[in-house]
Amino acid sequence: MKSQIIGQTVVFLEQVGSTNNYASSQLREREVEEGTVFLAVSQVKGRGQQANIWESESGKNLTFSIVLHPDFLEIKDQFLLSKAICLGLKEFLDTFCPHVSIKWPNDIYIGDRKVCGILIENAIMHGRFSSSVVGIGLNINQDHFVSDAPNPVSLKQVTGDEYDLKESLELVLSKIDRFYCQLIDGEVGTLNQMFVSSLYRLNEWHYYRDEQQTYRGRIIGVNEIGQLRIEEESGKINEYHFKEVSYIMK
Ligand code: BTN
Repeated sequence: MKSQIIGQTVVFLEQVGSTNNYASSQLREREVEEGTVFLAVSQVKGRGQQANIWESESGKNLTFSIVLHPDFLEIKDQFLLSKAICLGLKEFLDTFCPHVSIKWPNDIYIGDRKVCGILIENAIMHGRFSSSVVGIGLNINQDHFVSDAPNPVSLKQVTGDEYDLKESLELVLSKIDRFYCQLIDGEVGTLNQMFVSSLYRLNEWHYYRDEQQTYRGRIIGVNEIGQLRIEEESGKINEYHFKEVSYIMK
């Protein structure tokens, strides 16, 4: 196992638009060492998936981007990176509270609420990953959420405790580092198995909607390219790419 890669260098920024944008602009301007973290105390134009905004009150949460150079990873295996990141975040949250799960493809939930979002942006050169910017918004001490994001929650809202952000950052980076090193070392079987067993709603019967229908089904895992597998009551198994299926929430 390699020694720590992630967080050897942490660049603290008082205020930026988006740490993902900042990290990408740094990558265009200079060589950025693998594992470098860009963290913003205040992120005023945080980006979420699908052009959504990411709400985070200044100084309350962890909003940061990790620069990686996963050139060992084949493009077809890119979901493995997402799995490693999710598992690190889940393991971090597991130290503070129960009921942490990974809502496929890469949201982290406590119970039925979203505590963390991940935005991974890859650059590809000559058919390999030249860099990945892994943006993480982890809600730690925020007391109220005002945007219309579905089901946001912070760790403090769940446990009632206030957390030291510097200590939290150190811990979460070490957790993510552990799983990233496993990925480098090719421990893919373990990552896959841990990811599936951490899935939100695994093996539970709930309602889902795809292009054709709304149906009752249960998540049974993900396939080798990261598609979500849901079994219908009839036994038929459906496989989905991101956004091809919606979870019907309670
Ligand atoms: C999501 O929509 O679930 C993804 C949210 C990702 C938010 C983080 S905060 C740090 C980084 N910088 C951004 O602009 N977005 C990501």
